[in-house]
Amino acid sequence: MTAPPPPFPGYALVTGATAGLGASFTRRLAAEGRDLVLVARTTARLESMAAEVRDRFAVQVEVLPADLSTPDGCAAVAARIRQSERPIDTLINNAGIGLYRRFGAAPLADEQRMLDLNVGSVLTLTHAAVDAMTARGRGEIINVSSVAGFVPRGPSTTYAAGKAWVTAFSEGLSLLLAGSGVRITALCPGFTRTEFHARAKADMSGTPAWMWLDADRVVAEGLADARAGVVVSVPTKRYKALLVLVKVLPRSVVRWVVSRR
Ligand SMILES: NC(=O)c1ccc[n+]([C@@H]2O[C@H](COP(=O)([O-])OP(=O)(O)OC[C@H]3O[C@@H](n4cnc5c(N)ncnc54)[C@H](OP(=O)(O)O)[C@@H]3O)[C@@H](O)[C@H]2O)c1
Repeated sequence: MTAPPPPFPGYALVTGATAGLGASFTRRLAAEGRDLVLVARTTARLESMAAEVRDRFAVQVEVLPADLSTPDGCAAVAARIRQSERPIDTLINNAGIGLYRRFGAAPLADEQRMLDLNVGSVLTLTHAAVDAMTARGRGEIINVSSVAGFVPRGPSTTYAAGKAWVTAFSEGLSLLLAGSGVRITALCPGFTRTEFHARAKADMSGTPAWMWLDADRVVAEGLADARAGVVVSVPTKRYKALLVLVKVLPRSVVRWVVSRR
């Protein structure tokens, strides 16, 4: 078995770094000795996460408060990604929100804000990163997508469609980036215990225990896959098996199964 390639020397930028999967990415990358740029909206939580990883792992940490559902927030983070001093070698596009409302029941502005964050910020930040990283001939991008992107969803239809875009976009870019020294992975977790569902005010009481994943495990598998050159990473055997079923069953059967949940 060949050893995984060493981590890149430059900074790693993590969006949504203060909670859930982003906090797991932050701690794991810091444990590898990576210097970090942490992005989220809430400055106090960013400072607290920065202090924690500086103390534990003696790494350099910048905090960059930004609302990535806005053009200004995206522009500020894209500018940091393009910066040549303290270059960003790893971009983790992780910040995202859900909207557990029937389409039409939630205001259009809420649907739009979710797409601006879950899709728009991934587009803008990846654009900046591909430019800067290909010029240096090195880098890695992990776009946190979701298994939701593989199945039609009633209550979260816009969310699922957005994640389908993130996966397809990442997969397409992997073809363009081949041989450039820059790799890209769409990380597609299933249900993961984080703040995500509480923020979306989702009632998850009907979700069976076996479907819940641990954020640290998702991140460990996602990073290992990214470094092994896996373009679409689906952590855990149970979700890999579910996706095999989704791919082999007729789409009408998939829709029927999903509609009964
Ligand atoms: N949890 C799951 O079951 C699950 C499953 C599949 C995929 N995912 C995906 O995984 C990613 C991370 O989700 P999570 O479950 O870790 O969520 P989480 O625990 O709710 O954490 C969300 C993070 O994103 C930040 N954030 C939220 N809105 C933002 C904005 N407008 N601009 C910048 N930062 C923002 C939050 O900080 P602030 O509020 O301070 O900004 C926080 O740091 C998302 O893309 C999600 O779609 C989650």
